Amino acid sequence: MNLRDRYEAAFMPNYGVPSIALARGEGSQVWDVDGKPYLDLIGGIATSSLGHAHPALVEAVTRQVSTLAHTSNLYLHEPEVLLAEKLLALLGVPGKVFLANSGTEANECAYKLVRNHGTATGRSYLVSAENSFHGRSMGALSLTGKASIREKFGPFPVEVRFVPYGDAEALRAAVTEDCMGVFLEPTQGEAGVVPPPAGYLRAAREICDATGALLVLDEIQSAIGRTGHWFAHQAEGFTPDILTLAKGLGGGLPIGACVGFGAAGTLFAKGDHGSTFGGNAVSCAAALAVLDTVDLEHVKSIAELLWSGLASIGHPLLKGVRGRGLWLAVLLNEPVAAEVQDAAAKAGYLLNAVAPDALRLAPPLVITPQQIASFVEDLPAILTEATHG
Ligand SMILES: Cc1ncc(COP(=O)(O)O)c(C=O)c1O
Repeated sequence: MNLRDRYEAAFMPNYGVPSIALARGEGSQVWDVDGKPYLDLIGGIATSSLGHAHPALVEAVTRQVSTLAHTSNLYLHEPEVLLAEKLLALLGVPGKVFLANSGTEANECAYKLVRNHGTATGRSYLVSAENSFHGRSMGALSLTGKASIREKFGPFPVEVRFVPYGDAEALRAAVTEDCMGVFLEPTQGEAGVVPPPAGYLRAAREICDATGALLVLDEIQSAIGRTGHWFAHQAEGFTPDILTLAKGLGGGLPIGACVGFGAAGTLFAKGDHGSTFGGNAVSCAAALAVLDTVDLEHVKSIAELLWSGLASIGHPLLKGVRGRGLWLAVLLNEPVAAEVQDAAAKAGYLLNAVAPDALRLAPPLVITPQQIASFVEDLPAILTEATHG
C-alpha cells in the first residue's frame, strides 16, 4: 500500500486525504516522498516562519531537548521565562503571559479570562465576527463565525453574537454594557486573508473602552513578523486587552500564547487554568530562536517584491491581491482556486485555495528574492494551465 492509502486506512476522515506527501525541507523548499521539489508558499499555513530545517531552530531545539525537554508546570524553567519576557519586550506594553500548545488553546485561555471578567462584572454575552476562525475546541468553536463548521456542534455555553466583519457601526450596535468581550482577527485569515477597512480596529478599541467589554485580538495567523510588524495591531497604534498567538511563534514546533495587558493579565486566580505541555522547554527554545531570527526588514522588502511582481502580471484570471506583508490572497475572476492550486503543485509551488476564488500565500519569512521572482515568472502559465489544462 502506498502512503496515501495507509493514511486513509489509519486516520479519521476529517481532513480527507491530502494529495501530496512531504518528506523533507530546507529553507523555503520542500520535497515530496518521490523526491519532487516544491517552493513552499504556504509555510504550514503561516507557521514555518523560518522555513524548514533552519540552523537556528535546529540548534535551539536540539540543545534544549538534550538538556531538559519537559518539566510540567510544577517546576519552572528559564526558556519559558525568557520567552515571556521577550514577547512582552516586543509588545512594549506591561502584561502577563500564559503559554499553551496551539492557537485554539491560546483562544481557550482568552475565552476563560473574558468569562472571569464577565462573571465579575455581571455581563452575559460575547461578540465575534461572521466568517471568523478562532479554533475548533468547544470554546474556540463557539467564537468561530464560519457557520458551516460551528453549527453542527452547538449549542454552546455562552451566547455569542456575530457581526459582519469590518462594519464598525454593526459592532457598536452589538456591544452593550452587558457584553463581556469582543473577539476579532486583525485580518481574517481563514476567511481568505480579508483585511478590515481602515479605522475598524481602532473603532473596536473605542467601543470596548466605552462599554467595558474586553477586546481580544486573535493574532494567531497575523503575528510574528508576517505583516512586517511583530504583531499586526502595532500598525494601528493601540493595544488590545488580550492577545492570542501561535502558528509562526514556534516556527513549526507547537506553541500558543495568550497575553493579558494591564488588569486583563490578572483575571485568573491560582488554579483557574493550566496545561501539562504548555510552555514546554523545547517549544519555548524554538520560539526564542524564531524571535531572534525573524528579520522584519527582510519581510518588508520581500513583500514589496511579491506585491509588485503580482501587480505586474496581466492575466485574464487574475483579479487582484489583498492582504498584508507576506500574507496575502491572490484573487481570481472565476471560482477555480482549487484548479490553480493543483496546477501550481504540478509546476512545483505549494499554495492554498483558501476560498473558491482566492489563493492564500503565507510563505516562510526567510524566502529569497530569487524564489519570489521564479513564482511571479511562472504564475501566468499556472493560471493558463488551470483554465485550459
Ligand atoms: C486566526 C486563527 N485563530 C485560531 C486558529 C486555531 O489555531 P490552531 O489550529 O493552532 O489551534 C487559527 C488556525 O488557523 C487561526 O488562523
